[in-house]
Amino acid sequence: GFPAAWAPGRPAGDPIPALVPQSTLQLAKPRFLAQPVLELMTRCDEACAQQEDALAPQDFQEYLSYETVYANGTRTLTTVELSLQESGLERRWQRRRVRRKRQIYGIDGRFSISGNHFLMDYPFSATVKISTGCTGVLVSERHVLTAAHCIHDGKDYVKGAKKIKVGFLTPVQSAGNGTERLAMRWARVQRTLVPKGWIRGPNSVSMDYDYALLELRRPHQRSPMKLTVAPAAEEMAGKRIHFSGFDSDRPGELVYRFCGVEGETVHLIYQHCDARPGASGSGVYGKVWDPVQHKWERKVIGVFSGHQWLEVAGEQHHYNVAVRLTALKFAQICYWIKGDYKNCQNE
Ligand SMILES: *[C@@H]1O[C@H](CO)[C@@H](O)[C@H](O)[C@H]1NC(C)=O
Ligand SMILES: *[C@@H]1O[C@H](CO)[C@@H](O)[C@H](O)[C@H]1NC(C)=O
Repeated sequence: GFPAAWAPGRPAGDPIPALVPQSTLQLAKPRFLAQPVLELMTRCDEACAQQEDALAPQDFQEYLSYETVYANGTRTLTTVELSLQESGLERRWQRRRVRRKRQIYGIDGRFSISGNHFLMDYPFSATVKISTGCTGVLVSERHVLTAAHCIHDGKDYVKGAKKIKVGFLTPVQSAGNGTERLAMRWARVQRTLVPKGWIRGPNSVSMDYDYALLELRRPHQRSPMKLTVAPAAEEMAGKRIHFSGFDSDRPGELVYRFCGVEGETVHLIYQHCDARPGASGSGVYGKVWDPVQHKWERKVIGVFSGHQWLEVAGEQHHYNVAVRLTALKFAQICYWIKGDYKNCQNE
């Protein structure tokens, strides 16, 4: 199991930081030459897992600046500034011991969702396919959250990112006999946003910022899932995460799974949910208590990234990893969706 965890600790009710855009620079058009690597694998040790401790606010500003690529190939870089009401926010991680049973890893715990009825039901219906081979989740009527590595390899945009599309499983009438089947209907993307924290060159592949947002050309009628700042695992029902995706070993099927969180850092959620490459970019959700509505609600708290070998106390552990939506990342994505950071501070 996870030998030690660094509790991310965001006390409930902390304000969301304001991420204020500063300037937008025109960049050269991307070359779109990168080969997509859908199965992301990284290595990390304790120093790497805790490096965030050493970061200064200007580092966050650097990582939360972002690139935008439009359908016509135009690329811009937008710099941001944080308004630092941050005292309670990304506080130093508290170290604590966790006791956990070893997970059996290798039994396939995934369920293919069958029956149009279920597939068209929330939350499965919010799962979308990304034309570069990944999965994404609809998080507003016009926005899809996915993994950055599905679009950009850290140096350049992948080939398929130029004409990227988002696929929605949609019921269609079969010609002739009137039965209904599901077909993928592709929607066009007008804007792709990737944080600078991901675009850091080849020497430091870090999963911390492995997320991207796609803006559809037209709104989609389907119900989106809500995003929220990832709470500590203890605050989610059953301490579990869930996600559904288009795993590449089960073509044409939507695959759902859930599992317990085994450990987490500020940026990453470590778990052993079974997943194959096509599931990259899936919206990872938990059931989060909503004190206003007085019920558990499913909310997206992260993005499925890939695998990591984590070295702790000289031992290598293999995990599947999801990127956590920290308060800062949430503020950034919310700004991308709403276009006004002032609307993002009361989530
Ligand atoms: C490309 O699209 C963007 C956004 O719609 C627009 O601002 C820009 O002027 C366009 N560039 C060209 C060269 O057409
Ligand atoms: C209806 O037609 C589709 C192809 O058009 C076929 O795949 C399906 O099996 C048919 N269903 C029935 C009940 O005949």
